Amino acid sequence: MLTGKEILTDGHPNLRKRAAAVTMPPSEEDKGTLAEMLEFLINSQNPEFAEMHGIRPGIGLAAPQINILKRMIAVYIEVPESEPISLALFNPRIISHSVEKTYITSGEGCLSVEQNYPGFVPRYAKVRVKANTINGEEIEIHAKGLLAICLQHEIDHLNGILYYDHINKENPFGEIEFAIPYDRT
Ligand code: NI
Repeated sequence: MLTGKEILTDGHPNLRKRAAAVTMPPSEEDKGTLAEMLEFLINSQNPEFAEMHGIRPGIGLAAPQINILKRMIAVYIEVPESEPISLALFNPRIISHSVEKTYITSGEGCLSVEQNYPGFVPRYAKVRVKANTINGEEIEIHAKGLLAICLQHEIDHLNGILYYDHINKENPFGEIEFAIPYDRT
């Protein structure tokens, strides 16, 4: 079980590397790792677990963050009055995106980035993502809102990109063209 101490923090060189594709069908080892990543996110959203292990709640995790340079991500987003969005994906890739952009008005955060980087992180408002499920089946996800933002954040991790790379250094809260703000509160 992952408890958070496995998570690399900013400055570790492996957070800046490109992760390798996972061969399909997935091995039992890769499936096990991916399942543990999803379980960790669920646990991180439990206040008792988070406090016990000194971690922040997370909605997404990419394998490079636990020092595994493979293209695997997990996402867990609670949805009011609905089932949570729960995804464990191999080899996710964006196959198309909207012209319209978005950004979280309060900025993004990352379990691997302890420092707070204020500013808007421009993202596509909608993305279509192809990936393989934990059982290896190919799926296509049509995402918008927080899920679209989270998928882009996690796929960035597979390419060695961190959220603050996207913040305009000269004007962190400057207007983002063609963007509809997303309010997480
Ligand atoms: Ni992150």
